[in-house]
Amino acid sequence: MSFPLQRLRRLRRTDAMRRLVAETTLSAEDLIAPLFVREGIDAPQEISSLPGVMQHTLESAMTEIEELRALGVAAVVFFGVPEHKDAEGSGAWDPNGIVQLALGRARKRFGGSMVLIADLCVDEYTDHGHCGVLDGHGSVDNDATLELYRRIAVAQAHAGADIIAPSGMMDGQVAAIRNALDASGHETTAILAYAAKYASSFYGPFRDAVDVTIADGGDRKGYQQDPRNGREAMNEIRLDLAEGADMIMIKPALPYLDIVLRARLETDVPIAAYHVSGEYAMLKAAEANGWIDGDAAALESLISIKRAGADLILTYLARSIAESLAAIRPALPEPQRAIDPPTPELTP
Ligand code: PBG
Repeated sequence: MSFPLQRLRRLRRTDAMRRLVAETTLSAEDLIAPLFVREGIDAPQEISSLPGVMQHTLESAMTEIEELRALGVAAVVFFGVPEHKDAEGSGAWDPNGIVQLALGRARKRFGGSMVLIADLCVDEYTDHGHCGVLDGHGSVDNDATLELYRRIAVAQAHAGADIIAPSGMMDGQVAAIRNALDASGHETTAILAYAAKYASSFYGPFRDAVDVTIADGGDRKGYQQDPRNGREAMNEIRLDLAEGADMIMIKPALPYLDIVLRARLETDVPIAAYHVSGEYAMLKAAEANGWIDGDAAALESLISIKRAGADLILTYLARSIAESLAAIRPALPEPQRAIDPPTPELTP
């Protein structure tokens, strides 16, 4: 051969060289930490299928947020575990519902220094475990459910949420919530739409975490997406953006990186990916068996999600990854308060 052998290995020679040419970075502010707050317990409880993840009391949730903030994690998303469930899931919009109480406390304690996201759905609060109200035939009534979502959005925004994240996959949910927020004076509350959410087998441990069993061996295939469909996800994303979503989420993450990439190519709004409970549990189980290096595999998973095009990752790994990142980087500056007092130079 007359042409020279390609020497791609030149740029992989040392750690410093690899760092110089790395295309993707991961930092604590890319991470959103899920937070389960449970009513009626007086000490935090570990979730057995999510080792290292707790159901929190109101008090321990605040401590957790404080620690996440110190590690540089920029946002938390709240999930509620109520003591009582009913057919409509009324705990989801009760001003004294567990998530509203947690939002209120966190808002008061952390001001604008931590972004507070409220997952909006009723499945944790309904006695049948579906993400909406049932019609006479046992299927989820889309439009009746939107009415409940409107109430929940207003209650969550009122309690202090910066961002509402509807995860129920009802048609028209973003428009309904945007409209309810605007009509109640919450024009500044943002919406992170779970735009492409698949009917996935990877949600199992989450359902343990929030104590949800879908009645009569049911599933969510009537409202969540079919894993066989990719173009349909793009349709969901376009519609959610047209309805007023400020950011979008793809869920789960690793099995759907093609969707993350397609979304990245199509839209410039912030894209989040949800590395879900089953994805986390698989890593932990393989690690516990000594089959993989858990920390390295966790980091590789999250880097891959960013490489595919996600800006943000909602993950149960948030805390441990932020801890390892903090250990190898200089101390992070104090997070800025959203509402700074006016600086003296600028005040006439
Ligand atoms: C629905 C909801 C689910 C998850 C987040 N929000 C469960 C579902 O759709 O059945 C799953 C998240 C995870 O597995 O980590 N409120």
